[in-house]
Amino acid sequence: MKEYKPFKSGKVREVYDAEDSIIMVATDRISAFDHILKNKITDKGAILTQMSRFWFDFTKDILPNHMISVDNQEMPEFFQQEEFRGNSMKCKKLTMIPMECIVRGYITGSGWESYKENGTVCGIKLPEGLVESQKLPEPIFTPSTKAELGDHDENVSLEKGAEVLEKAFPGHGREYVEKVRDYTIAIYKKCAEYALSRGIIIADTKFEFGLDEEGNIVLGDEVLTPDSSRFWPLDGYKEGQSQPSYDKQFVRDWLKENPDSDYELPQEIIDKTIAKYKEAFKKLTGKDFA
Ligand SMILES: Nc1ncnc2c1ncn2[C@@H]1O[C@H](COP(=O)(O)OP(=O)(O)O)[C@@H](O)[C@H]1O
Ligand SMILES: [Mg+2]
Repeated sequence: MKEYKPFKSGKVREVYDAEDSIIMVATDRISAFDHILKNKITDKGAILTQMSRFWFDFTKDILPNHMISVDNQEMPEFFQQEEFRGNSMKCKKLTMIPMECIVRGYITGSGWESYKENGTVCGIKLPEGLVESQKLPEPIFTPSTKAELGDHDENVSLEKGAEVLEKAFPGHGREYVEKVRDYTIAIYKKCAEYALSRGIIIADTKFEFGLDEEGNIVLGDEVLTPDSSRFWPLDGYKEGQSQPSYDKQFVRDWLKENPDSDYELPQEIIDKTIAKYKEAFKKLTGKDFA
């Protein structure tokens, strides 16, 4: 059997090059406050992969996506091993558009910090008098690019984004940035409206796009998982304060209360967190995670 090694190993995901495709694997690792915790959250990887799968199907009338299969029996033999069942997605290899396409429907986090300082988020002027976690009149596109030095992302204006993409794709910078902006807003609106009807607020999220062999723009990476988005429970949502995270609420609270834990959670917190992921999956897809 041919062995594969990931060419990219992030905090949570591993990406493998499988010749004509890539295999994206969501592990059961969990991160909080920029740390990978010592515990594994059983089934988290599979739940997140199946959520992405749901959203790829849900958005395919807006634009094509990279998903080929989530059946590991359709992948090279190495990935047919038990550890890859349910958590792996075989995807079309894309030439990635080097931009994190962030969309915000509510004002929170770094956006809220920036608004309090000068009334803008990533150069976009917002109405006066907004309070923390308030819904914005319209969702805003606030892209970021990988800074040239170091690995911190840098927020960019549309103009700067067009310049960055122009370097990667001469003659297409402006066109691509406008297209990914329009796709980002359209996907967010459709999915956030749906999620809201199922009791989950998607406050903000991030998409990545790439080009297929024919030069079409295709939705890639993971889509609308709690790892790439801020999910809030609708139940208990209240403007003017910060909101609990849908999935990591117990983890963050416990870590704050136990600063000496060295990022190792008790079983009770793990079990509650697993239950939250299953609950989010059921609310969004209407199906029990099996
Ligand atoms: N279809 C695809 N083809 C090629 N690369 C992809 C595809 N979808 C996502 N990617 C890339 O795979 C990588 C996933 O890595 P990730 O674990 O998110 O780490 P990071 O975001 O820090 O680079 C990203 O670089 C992303 O741009
Ligand atoms: Mg990433």
